[in-house]
Amino acid sequence: MPGDKSISHRAAMMAALAEGTSSIRNFSTSADCAATLSCLEALGVQIQRDGTDLLLTSVGIDGLRAPKAPLDCGNSGTTMRLLAGILAGQDFTSTLTGDESLRSRPMQRIIEPLQMMGANISSNDGRAPLLIKGHRGLKAVKYELLVASAQVKSCILLAGLSAKGRTEVIENQTTRDHTERMLSSFGVQVETGKAEREGEDARFAAVNGPARLSARDLLIPGDASSAAYFIAAAALLPGSSLEVTDVGVNPTRVLFLDQLRTMGLDVEIIGVGEDNHEPVGSIRVRGSRQQLSGGSDSRITIRGLVVPQLIDELPLLAALGSQIEGGIEIRDAAELRVKESDRIAATALNLRAMGADVEEFDDGLRVAGPVELRGAKIDPHRDHRIAMAFAIAALLAEGETEITDAECVAVSFPEFFELLESVVTR
Ligand code: S3P
Repeated sequence: MPGDKSISHRAAMMAALAEGTSSIRNFSTSADCAATLSCLEALGVQIQRDGTDLLLTSVGIDGLRAPKAPLDCGNSGTTMRLLAGILAGQDFTSTLTGDESLRSRPMQRIIEPLQMMGANISSNDGRAPLLIKGHRGLKAVKYELLVASAQVKSCILLAGLSAKGRTEVIENQTTRDHTERMLSSFGVQVETGKAEREGEDARFAAVNGPARLSARDLLIPGDASSAAYFIAAAALLPGSSLEVTDVGVNPTRVLFLDQLRTMGLDVEIIGVGEDNHEPVGSIRVRGSRQQLSGGSDSRITIRGLVVPQLIDELPLLAALGSQIEGGIEIRDAAELRVKESDRIAATALNLRAMGADVEEFDDGLRVAGPVELRGAKIDPHRDHRIAMAFAIAALLAEGETEITDAECVAVSFPEFFELLESVVTR
């Protein structure tokens, strides 16, 4: 698998904050991470590229320079939200913008905590473009997340690096923890633990500022969210056998494997090691299509605390749910409506086009199953994860499927179709 997108963004941004030259191998090939690199270059970071190997040279956290033009984050929410945290504490003004989808996504969730830290940000009614008048005097805060979002948590922790004192973020639902791990790799002390609340799953992460980062040599593990499409296809196509090697198996990212197992599918993680504080291993899959069901009460239900850790895999799981006795119900996932597209609407529309029976809710959807999917014309709403989820649904369907604007997969995974062709036998 190409390098993990979430980890690559963080590696590049932290290398930009570290004094000296960092090397990053197996950097993500995604358009999203390319947007991060071009923003960092515009901020004065020198980047040498050799395929997916990079050398980033920076003069450190206080050495970034004012960009000459607005920083274009493309389609990438992670680029915009994490960079905002970095830029709030710089002593220059910058503007963050992006494509039409990104300019329609909610940014108040980062503006509010950054303003509590003393940042000066104007927006288009809570949306990009964001005009950030940075300054060196940010205040450390203790902030409880209102939305379960790793991007918001990361934004605040990155701003905390240049604030004076202890910045603490509390989350009531676990979200991916790559920022905490990557900060540790760059020599920053990060405190993490259970927040003191009875009977809740709340956790905290804290940094002490001002912090200094040291340049590092990093290897990015393969992207588990990209692997998910291949794993799902292999698991559901009888006679398949697939092993994905050197892939990130961070527990906050691989919960979808548990969901596949609950469906009765044969997937396992083998040989886990660690690279730069990130668990890395192989995932082995064997295809079967015996009686698939959601267990004792038949329907698979995904709701509550697990949702943030499955968020990028939910469209795929919804499609797979159509193959399961009892189907699938996904709730507490209203965040899906503010991703690169409204993923609840896009998933429902396209599953119905393939013959599935779907009920849509404000915070999720219910897909009846099992049903024999039929090939259809798919509109992915220019959303990479919808295009890839429906490419897998197409493999399970009878007849031909055409996905329009399928090149949108490049946002996270440009080599998706080529790699799929290379592992599928007819
Ligand atoms: C990401 C966090 C998630 C995820 C996105 C990448 C990250 O977004 O959907 O694809 O790298 O931190 P939220 O944190 O907004 O849920």
